[in-house]
Amino acid sequence: MKQAGEANPLLDKSEKEIHRIIQDSNITVAKSFADLVRSSLGPLGAHKIIIDEDGFIIVTRDGRTIFENICVDHPIEGMMLELAKVQDEVAGDGTTSVVILAGELLSRAKELLMTGLHPSNIVKGYTMAMQEAILILNELAMPLSSQDKHSLLPVARTSLNSKILAGYRDTFADMVVDAVLRSKDAKNIYFQSSTGGSIRDIFLFNGMIIENRTLVPHMQNTVENPKILLLNAKLKLYDVKRKLGGAVDLILEAGQITKMHMAEFAIFSEIAEMINRLGVNAVLNSRKMDPVAMDFFRKAGIFAVRNLPSENLMRISELTGGRIVSDIDEVREEDLGHAKSIREEQIGDHRFILIEKEDSPVVTVMIRGGTKQMVDEVRRTLNDAIQTTIHTLEDRSILPGGGAVEVEVAARLRHFAYTIRSKEQLAVLAFADALESIPRILATNSGMDMVSTIISLKHEHSAGRISAGINAEEGKIVDTLEQGIIEPLGMKRQVIQGATMTAIMILRVDDFIPRKDLKKRGEDLTKEDIKVALKAEKDVEEAYREAVRLFGRKNVRDMIKVYGWESVPRVLNRWYGREVYKPLSPSS
Ligand SMILES: Nc1ncnc2c1ncn2[C@@H]1O[C@H](COP(=O)(O)OP(=O)(O)OP(=O)(O)O)[C@@H](O)[C@H]1O
Ligand SMILES: [Mg+2]
Repeated sequence: MKQAGEANPLLDKSEKEIHRIIQDSNITVAKSFADLVRSSLGPLGAHKIIIDEDGFIIVTRDGRTIFENICVDHPIEGMMLELAKVQDEVAGDGTTSVVILAGELLSRAKELLMTGLHPSNIVKGYTMAMQEAILILNELAMPLSSQDKHSLLPVARTSLNSKILAGYRDTFADMVVDAVLRSKDAKNIYFQSSTGGSIRDIFLFNGMIIENRTLVPHMQNTVENPKILLLNAKLKLYDVKRKLGGAVDLILEAGQITKMHMAEFAIFSEIAEMINRLGVNAVLNSRKMDPVAMDFFRKAGIFAVRNLPSENLMRISELTGGRIVSDIDEVREEDLGHAKSIREEQIGDHRFILIEKEDSPVVTVMIRGGTKQMVDEVRRTLNDAIQTTIHTLEDRSILPGGGAVEVEVAARLRHFAYTIRSKEQLAVLAFADALESIPRILATNSGMDMVSTIISLKHEHSAGRISAGINAEEGKIVDTLEQGIIEPLGMKRQVIQGATMTAIMILRVDDFIPRKDLKKRGEDLTKEDIKVALKAEKDVEEAYREAVRLFGRKNVRDMIKVYGWESVPRVLNRWYGREVYKPLSPSS
């Protein structure tokens, strides 16, 4: 048995190899992350059930939601999650595709690395392929025939296709396009939700819906053409006291209740005067109002709401054109907001205030569903479709969906590859293969024979039918443009760019570099942990734990599989730049 410190041939030549192990292992981590959602791609993709520690469940097949809810304990997984987030933020859709494509690019890079190709050739080849692919996408893109409802409906339908609302696709595509054409901007589209009821009860509302209720039962609960006072002022007895200085205390002490009422009356008569003068018939207050105030408004027949979150009041201010005032004395006619109507309604299990305004870009999608999980998934689905439709409206360019564009770009990339004489040719070919994984997975998830579908698709494309793609529901190859299976150019472009850049970044990671400041690096450790980490003599379990903390469990397991336990202290010592752990003999 070798003694500690004795030369170990395996370890001696490990500098380069450890880089390779880390690289390989990073690719494996990224690929397994992508594999999580493979089966969720496309209209017939599978749902995932995510269960948290408290037993709450989320049922979803939305890429970003799946990623956000899984445990990410490795930096590479963090990068993949970031990729999905950026895709969602920039394009609003395509999160599953982008992660799958990054995983495929990496697993093909791994094969190329095994054949001896240097990572820099792969990085260069992938960059060339990405640039060429974007040019091809631009060539293939078709202008949106017009910006009307008819042209946008297929885009909304394609996005809805792959989600929980697929069965009601036409109704909801209609709703999505109406919302988008009216608001033109995602920030004008609000979501509100209530359990109780079913998907069929979902509706689009012109204006805002806020979860809240009026002050007291039987208060005026619908006002047509309201003149709305937006208030940020406490209306409580306390204010009466303040207004009259110490007088109220004296009155109370003396038990002269009548006089206290007179004091209240003084304040409320001021409000009443203002209300009469300006014709106010709705008061929306972001602060408290006590029973005296409630009774006052009820008797005056005024629609009154209290405790509205300030951000809601601000949005109502934008919607109705009213100004938020904090001093009743200062209210002027021009401060009041206007709407078609304001009303309180029970929707499902909750009560809401609905402010309707027909000539405003603000709309609210009121989501209904039997359970919270259902409501949440519907919200994600509609949001995806809205974002996709908005991006199409901005981009005004569309591409055939159902895998058609991937097959066409892959075919053209292969031609491009053969014009390259250097080793990068191999990476461009690998890139084309990776792109084709999208139609391959779509075919598999749709229950079609993957191999024959891909062969037929390639055949169709070689005959110039560039929009030949998969119709998952029919399990057939169709003209996707004719069938309205289309996607926005911007979204596809983002999928290709995002996936390539992330794959390249991951390929470039071949080591984990320690931060200069040890103290800082140990910020999340207790003092005891740091003492332990710096102790020169350690047993193997401690070294393992430390390595897992620094490099991630998957990397360390892979390292041990290939090089055995003895590689653990070796790598740790490299990390610290000195011998913190005694090298172990291979048999330890
Ligand atoms: N009817 C259809 N037949 C075949 N493929 C379709 C159909 N409708 C949409 N697709 C394809 O499904 C893919 C999109 O699937 P999906 O919506 O599940 O994933 P994503 O958009 O990448 O990610 P996510 O929606 O989770 O953010 C696209 O390639 C699209 O062209
Ligand atoms: Mg989608």
